[in-house]
Amino acid sequence: MQFRTFDELTPSMDAGRLLVHLSSLGGATDRRAVDVWRRRSDLFAEYVGIFAVEHGQVLGQTLVKRLAYRFPDGEERIGAIASVGTRPDRARRGIARRILEEVHRREREAGIRYTALWTNPSWGAHRLYERLGYADTYAFPWAVLPPSHRPAASRIAGVTPARSRDLAPLDRLHDRLAEDRLGFCRHPRGFLPIAAATREVDPKSELLVLRRNGRIAGYAHLVPTRVRTLCGEIVAAYRRDRARLVRAIEARAAGTTVAFQHTPVSDDPALFRARGYAVLDAGWYTLMTAALRGPWDARTARATFRPDDPRFLCCAGDRF
Ligand SMILES: CC(C)(COP(=O)(O)OP(=O)(O)OC[C@H]1O[C@@H](n2cnc3c(N)ncnc32)[C@H](O)[C@@H]1OP(=O)(O)O)[C@@H](O)C(=O)NCCC(=O)NCCS
Repeated sequence: MQFRTFDELTPSMDAGRLLVHLSSLGGATDRRAVDVWRRRSDLFAEYVGIFAVEHGQVLGQTLVKRLAYRFPDGEERIGAIASVGTRPDRARRGIARRILEEVHRREREAGIRYTALWTNPSWGAHRLYERLGYADTYAFPWAVLPPSHRPAASRIAGVTPARSRDLAPLDRLHDRLAEDRLGFCRHPRGFLPIAAATREVDPKSELLVLRRNGRIAGYAHLVPTRVRTLCGEIVAAYRRDRARLVRAIEARAAGTTVAFQHTPVSDDPALFRARGYAVLDAGWYTLMTAALRGPWDARTARATFRPDDPRFLCCAGDRF
């Protein structure tokens, strides 16, 4: 078995790579999308990911991004590990462990101090990560409103779907309003325009923009399906604007379940409780972190990444 980088995969291995991704996690990172991100941003690590290959067949994979993280003593890039998967017919042979060890070696060499990944502590993968030195660091809150029988307002004044030309200003608003915060404070360069170009975000159905006097005053990023709408990112300087975006999302959800997650909930749980939402401080999905040099445990992880600090910022878009 060999370990290859993204550029070392041949085109004939692409179907096998996508098979691993889809069959393990349901995702499909399109090669063309990766090319766009690499051309226009520094989101991915130089090697994009590590892939276990045997007889021309991809058996396991891990993608690696680099994200800005603001610690109390300054901002640095962390290795954001995504889409860890092994073919089920090759499970428990050390493939994922060896891929991650190779990722750690490369990240250490690139001068990265910390890596992070999202998982669920009830999954087998959690044991793998613990054995590699990862510690539970942050589990995000939820606020949920069942389908309402009250007629919701059909439209909230000043709130409209995003247009293409709004996307770069929305990235700038996000970063500006996060200036005094800790955590995932900066979108990767060109984030929303690139995500729209690669179809990872649909501005028309997934971004609501709030304007006051013609100027952008806030936005919300939602992920609607036919049965529920999820929102893990609301960005606005004023509480009344955030509340207006919440009402606009409820109106759009039109009688289906609405759920908010992450910083919009931890910043202001009272806003949701007052509207009749059920609130949970922390769900299952958890950010684990590891230090590539030196000792690490959950206490040190929380003291370093500061998820309990009121300035901490992490939105659904910061899940990788
Ligand atoms: C999780 C996953 C990537 C593990 O891949 P793998 O190549 O089988 O893992 P490894 O053989 O390297 O496992 C190393 C260690 O991790 C732990 N581990 C791995 N899978 C486990 C499982 N299902 N249950 C409990 N522990 C497990 C064990 O400690 C294992 O060592 P052992 O086999 O000596 O006991 C694979 O099961 C998978 O693709 N699952 C579906 C997708 C997924 O959950 N990905 C992770 C998302 S966060």
